[in-house]
Amino acid sequence: MHDMERLFTSQTVQKVGETVKVAGWIHARRDMGKVAFFDLRDKDGLLQIVAVPSELGEFAELSGTIRPEWVVEFEGVVQARGAKQVNDKLVTGTVELLAKSVKVLNEAKTPPFEIDKDTRPVNEETRLTYRYLDLRSERMQANLRSRHAMFQHMRKYLGENGFIEVETPVLTKGTPEGAREFIVPSRLHAGNFYVLPQSPQQFKQLLMVSGVERYYQLAKCFRDEDQRGDRQPEFTQLDLEMSFVEREDVMSLIENLLIELVKTHKPEARIQALPFPRMTYKEAVEKYGTDRPDIREDKNDPNLFAFCWVIDFPFFEKTEDGGWTFTHNPFSAALPEWKERLMNKEDIGSIITSQYDIVLNGFEIGGGSIRNHEPQALRKVFEIMGFEASTIDEQFGHMMQAFEFGAPPHGGIALGVDRVMALFRGEANIREVMAFPKDGAARDHMMGAPSPLPEKALKEANITSV
Ligand code: AMO
Repeated sequence: MHDMERLFTSQTVQKVGETVKVAGWIHARRDMGKVAFFDLRDKDGLLQIVAVPSELGEFAELSGTIRPEWVVEFEGVVQARGAKQVNDKLVTGTVELLAKSVKVLNEAKTPPFEIDKDTRPVNEETRLTYRYLDLRSERMQANLRSRHAMFQHMRKYLGENGFIEVETPVLTKGTPEGAREFIVPSRLHAGNFYVLPQSPQQFKQLLMVSGVERYYQLAKCFRDEDQRGDRQPEFTQLDLEMSFVEREDVMSLIENLLIELVKTHKPEARIQALPFPRMTYKEAVEKYGTDRPDIREDKNDPNLFAFCWVIDFPFFEKTEDGGWTFTHNPFSAALPEWKERLMNKEDIGSIITSQYDIVLNGFEIGGGSIRNHEPQALRKVFEIMGFEASTIDEQFGHMMQAFEFGAPPHGGIALGVDRVMALFRGEANIREVMAFPKDGAARDHMMGAPSPLPEKALKEANITSV
């Protein structure tokens, strides 16, 4: 005879009267004279265990030693709770397990903070050092599971709309998108470096040249920027790109996805206005003083979701030394009515890009554009930015070359999914919806990164001085 199969706590509600086995962590212990009650926690939630010496027999003594966070297995009989004892807050609130035997699978030290409570007030460094314990808390578990459910939804939605997920490299070459990049020294090519991608921008455009037509990826992106509540050095984008489309096509695809996500994963929320209002960059700045306006009618309503699109951004802005740089993305196309001036390098400050940003309650949750698929037009953008022909060829030759082999018109967008999740979960900081985030100074306290390396490792990476 083999061992009884372990059930998840949620499955016990269907098993009244049966003998079952459950296992998990001791969430809480309450002693009431001879009887002890345990809350046993597993991935599905809590189950009340009743420990009575007369039922436990030879196991009664062991049961008396069990402490919170120990890993324990119980066998016993599922019994219905009396009407007064039913607990609506628990999935298993209609039942409890009358323990017949117990096995300790592992003991546990007392955790450095209480994980049966909201852990947000706990010191950040402690929380992040013991992130695996922080993640045991109910709120963090709910955030992880909700993130998973929303990722599943995104994948399904895009799959149904003809997209495929393609992975793009993390060891790659720098791409100018505004942020400082993390660099990785090459061992095999002394003095040369890989760069971690700020986004898969160039690869996704090259996939359009490949004829993929509809690409997406839940992509890790890396930016060596100063940290804020809505910024991490590595974060995730729902990144996508489509061929033979115009700005309206990309915007409506994302708008419909966001509406579906709200309906399914935040049913209590009300979307302030449908379709999402649109305003130009100029209007946003004039009316709200920012290009990510918070247009909520009531900023104290936690269930109000006010999405809006910001469009018609200037393509270029002046640099400190009097030259020009792009405001968003050098790969964007100008709006059709501005193309001629771009090609003639006229009236540069007025040229409007096809860029669109999606804003939710004052947070920029995504952005994208229709791209310059013609190599000459892309070259003009770099020329306006003052790049020498040789620099353009060296840095972007591969893009120019690819576009000469029949690049379709294309465009796309990327959602910052950590920001989306934080807003859906009512969290003020994106680290609450990431499993293993960095602290405000980009450190990983649990792993101890960044860290010095032994001389030998540095030598191998051709790093001679620090
Ligand atoms: P962009 O740079 O606007 O566009 O990035 C898209 C979205 O990613 C989120 N985001 C961040 N989230 C957390 N931490 C960060 N450090 C961080 N930086 C950005 C934001 C932002 O709106 N390749 C283009 C997309 C495209 O044009 O298709 C891009 O990366 O929510």
